[in-house]
Amino acid sequence: MDWEENFNSHHDSNPRGPRAISLDVTFTGFDKLYGLPEHADTLALKGTGSTDPYRLYNLDVFEYELDNPMALYGAIPYVHALSPKHSVGMMWLNAAETWVDINYSNEKSIVGRVLSSIMSSDEVSRIDTHFMSESGLLDLFLFLGPTPKDVTRQYSNVFGPSYLPPLFAISYHQCRWNYNDQKDVLGVDANFDKYDIPMDVIWLDIEHTDGKRYFSWDARKFPESKEMLSTLAGKGRNMVTIIDPHIKVDKNWGLYKAGKDHSTCGIYVQNKDGGNFEGHCWPGTSSWVDYTSPCARQWWAEQFSYDNYQGSSPSLFTWNDMNEPSVFNGPEVSMPKDNLHAEQWEHRDVHNIYGHYMHKASSDGQVLRSQNTARPFVLSRAFFVGSHRIGPIWTGDNYASWEHLKMSIPMLLSLNVAGYPFVGADVGGFFGNPATELLVRWYQVGVLQPFLRAHAHIDTRRREPWLFGEENTALIRDALILRYQLLPYIYTQFYKASVDNSPIMRPLWYDHPSDTSLYSNQEEFLLGDSLLSSPVLESNEKSHLVTLPGPQVWYDYHSYTKYSPGTMHISVKLSSTPLFIKGGSILVTKMRVRRSSQLMESDPYTIIVALDNKGEAKGEAYVDDGKSFDYKNNKFSFQNLSFTGNKLSCRSGVKEAHYKSAGVERVVILGVDNSLSASHNGSPIISTFSKSSHSITLKKPNLVLSDEWDIEFS
Ligand code: GLC
Repeated sequence: MDWEENFNSHHDSNPRGPRAISLDVTFTGFDKLYGLPEHADTLALKGTGSTDPYRLYNLDVFEYELDNPMALYGAIPYVHALSPKHSVGMMWLNAAETWVDINYSNEKSIVGRVLSSIMSSDEVSRIDTHFMSESGLLDLFLFLGPTPKDVTRQYSNVFGPSYLPPLFAISYHQCRWNYNDQKDVLGVDANFDKYDIPMDVIWLDIEHTDGKRYFSWDARKFPESKEMLSTLAGKGRNMVTIIDPHIKVDKNWGLYKAGKDHSTCGIYVQNKDGGNFEGHCWPGTSSWVDYTSPCARQWWAEQFSYDNYQGSSPSLFTWNDMNEPSVFNGPEVSMPKDNLHAEQWEHRDVHNIYGHYMHKASSDGQVLRSQNTARPFVLSRAFFVGSHRIGPIWTGDNYASWEHLKMSIPMLLSLNVAGYPFVGADVGGFFGNPATELLVRWYQVGVLQPFLRAHAHIDTRRREPWLFGEENTALIRDALILRYQLLPYIYTQFYKASVDNSPIMRPLWYDHPSDTSLYSNQEEFLLGDSLLSSPVLESNEKSHLVTLPGPQVWYDYHSYTKYSPGTMHISVKLSSTPLFIKGGSILVTKMRVRRSSQLMESDPYTIIVALDNKGEAKGEAYVDDGKSFDYKNNKFSFQNLSFTGNKLSCRSGVKEAHYKSAGVERVVILGVDNSLSASHNGSPIISTFSKSSHSITLKKPNLVLSDEWDIEFS
């Protein structure tokens, strides 16, 4: 039987014939379905009756469309079904091209009829789904909840918790295609200091290489890469270079040859006839490393050694792009499905996991070069189930428009719901030139998202933060300073994700599943469990709609104004970043401004205690060295903070762990009506009461965050 297919000018020989697999799953009694990243679409998945099904096939899409179920760069075939009383999760573990049809209805299935009699309700909503993959076998995981948090924990038990990044990775990244040369890099670096803007990492895109041969430098532009890296490192700053999966076919290039002549395994993906596959990408004719092969992954990991990657250093990290894989002259700008991988797997079988294995091999390479001492950092564009254990991804080539800024929120929330906490979108928008107002707003949103990187296309105008006049520089500086203030809190959320994969950027319903009015909210989000961001996403907005879920009160992060839960309008200016602290929570922050996160290490903490209506609060603080694996040997500190009965207590949450943190320089208590005096072990602590903001500030309590202590109030 002949199963060959033609697609435009492409031919798929499909020698093994059709092997599709599909399954219908009905979620009875559920209101909404979420997940299935990556799509530029609403957070709550739509019924696909009148559109294509949601498609999962990792692709490099030029100028992707919004509100569209078309496939993008990564795939997690996972859905989360939600109702006020119940959450369940389902993973369809298949790496081939996958389509998912969704139909919402109130019609009753047999199960629905039984359920509605048990639940004594007339209507039981039901969601019918139809999962279809081009090949593979049935490998299905169901997580039975019943709360969203239970589903997260169950997911984490099977697919693992998130990776714990080094501290610099969750700080600010400055990227552009391209910083032209060493002088340009050092100039940008110096300007961050001149304008007092914190920054941790400068990125180099493809133009830094010798003719798009990765692991190399253009010797004319970067004659002294090591010196450049060490100047940056002197200020606690790192660098990232791009490394793509396509290897230039150049018989005079050592790396290409080493892959071609490898003695124990095939390094490159093969074409259907068994020769090395060749296609076009940035360097011209290229071959693609077969990361599905453990032996090829080992070979790749070794390329990161300081001997192999000349001019690199321990402060140089990695960006893996184009790993869907993107093949300029291939079908749908990707690889022919009849290409062959290790053990004769067809590309069609492993397409969606290819980029994941590249991400893994690069990350393994960084761990290897540090002899297992330094945490890796690799950003990937393609991803699959499990990539959250390796490093961050970003949402690819977005556009400098308000619509794309808005879309970044449901896209990143979907990823978090599907088990991927460390994600971000290009700040400013990749294509096009953002108007100044849009750029400022984008920073204000981006600083509260998990992965924070500004990036821009080669044809765009320069847009470093100081290029838009003093006032706007100040606004961008304020936004970035807010990020750096919150680093101790955000890092604590990353620690928690590394234990149970809890989402870092959460839809409002995640912590409030019984409130159905939140099910379609995709304009606001929670950052960890204690902060709510309600960003301004419209040009020239003066009055901003905020929803604060109940039952607890909320406090404005900047003014400490107390809000009752509900939906309300607040007035905003260009300087406003609406951010609220949940009543009943305690956060740790650092208020001193430095050039980079590393330089903040011994800076003291400010603890913010936001009381609930009962006058109580609790929170956590995680501290370690921010870079090594020593935390695995209990060299960390995880403190439980609580305020109850007029006492603020700090207790070790993991008794066997020890790490000496910096001191506490300030404690601010929000939601107090009278002045109180404070003492520690009988010694008074200077405190000031602010009548206007109903807060008390304690100065220099002379305590260390990683110690156990109490502060008494009377
Ligand atoms: C891709 C990436 C983009 C990068 C460009 C050049 O379009 O998504 O971020 O700048 O390639 O490497």
